[in-house]
Amino acid sequence: MFKTSKIINQNNEGIGIAKNNNKIVFIPFSLKDELVTYEITKENKKYDEGKLVKIKEKSKERQEPKCKYYFKCGGCNIMHQKYFSQLLFKKDKVINNLKHISNINIDDIDIVYDKQFNYRNHITLSIKDDNIGFYEYHTNKIVNIDKCIISNEKINKTLKEIIKFINKYKDNNIDRISIKAYNEILINIESSNFKLIDEFKNIVNFDSLYINNKHILGIKKISINLNNYMYKVSSSAFFQKNTNMTIKLYDYIKELLNKDERVLDLYCGSGGIGIYVSDKVKNVLGIEIIDDAVIDAKENVRINNVDNISFISGKVEDNLDNIKDVDTLIVDPPRIGLNKKAVENILKINSKRIIYVSCNSTTLARDINYLKDKYVLKSIKLFDLFPNTHHVETICLMERK
Ligand SMILES: C[S@@+](CC[C@H](N)C(=O)[O-])C[C@H]1O[C@@H](n2cnc3c(N)ncnc32)[C@H](O)[C@@H]1O
Repeated sequence: MFKTSKIINQNNEGIGIAKNNNKIVFIPFSLKDELVTYEITKENKKYDEGKLVKIKEKSKERQEPKCKYYFKCGGCNIMHQKYFSQLLFKKDKVINNLKHISNINIDDIDIVYDKQFNYRNHITLSIKDDNIGFYEYHTNKIVNIDKCIISNEKINKTLKEIIKFINKYKDNNIDRISIKAYNEILINIESSNFKLIDEFKNIVNFDSLYINNKHILGIKKISINLNNYMYKVSSSAFFQKNTNMTIKLYDYIKELLNKDERVLDLYCGSGGIGIYVSDKVKNVLGIEIIDDAVIDAKENVRINNVDNISFISGKVEDNLDNIKDVDTLIVDPPRIGLNKKAVENILKINSKRIIYVSCNSTTLARDINYLKDKYVLKSIKLFDLFPNTHHVETICLMERK
């Protein structure tokens, strides 16, 4: 049965929230202040899920999505919202998480942004029954795409070639394929039984080929330039997915650091931040769990003629015991944020300042809470590395009390 309600807000994922008999209903693709007709598709104990049927009163913040796959493909989720309204949504989300989770009240936050399309330098697509694409929202159905307009042109050119390949070789056994397009192109094929390497290389142009993260053909690492620095990255190492915005993000981190200070760069990946700030600070120690990323980081130090950085390969939480004399500690953890042991050991280091780089404001707000007996939040800034999705990068500067 259809219902009609006003949308009162958006949740952390950008999904519209309505109330039906005092129970919350989440309705994807609806926007705040819209009056919508919807169908309840799933009833849960505390909330229901609905499917948008008709917009009776449309928000002025709604726009026609540029992507023809948008309403099916689960890759992006707020492209139906005008870009400046997307930015406001991201600001509100972070402000609300800080208010409700860490009890910190902030009126407004600056948000830095760049282009809305052609920004992604890395995508991973699933392949099944001749379909290649991202999963439809909350299903295991692949939405077949021939273009991803948030990805850069090199990725789109490679995608066309991969489509040619999978159409010609239907029994290709590829489950997932990831394309990293920086200065060169790296492809990683995920498959339990891929036998068509020659056929693949005859159709698809690449500089580096991996299968299940094992190097197979071409150069082992591809390179990416961020201002004066060049980084080499292998298949399993993390690197930021929006090149232009990464420069703005790293410039800001550098701005926050004091000259000649001693820096600890936790969750350092292939050395991205540490190398970028190395000419301003006294020294940097990076810690990262992925061995290949640390090997890349060490090579990146050599390539860039940097002589004040060292790295530890291992888990952050297990490697902080003997670390002393840190002025600023940078943390850039994955979405799950810091675990308990990491927080305890970070507190013991007793650095003057912490710069927290976060891609998930819920875990960020939780971790600020864990740190708040010793550290106070001094500044916060957002960076929109992921336009048309609900994600946003946040940088917080915290100072020891
Ligand atoms: C968001 S990325 C940040 C990378 C880097 N700071 C950059 O800007 O490129 C998070 C990194 O944390 C690493 N990681 C995840 N869990 C970890 C742990 N327990 N200890 C150390 N590193 C970890 C991941 O491999 C990944 O490289």
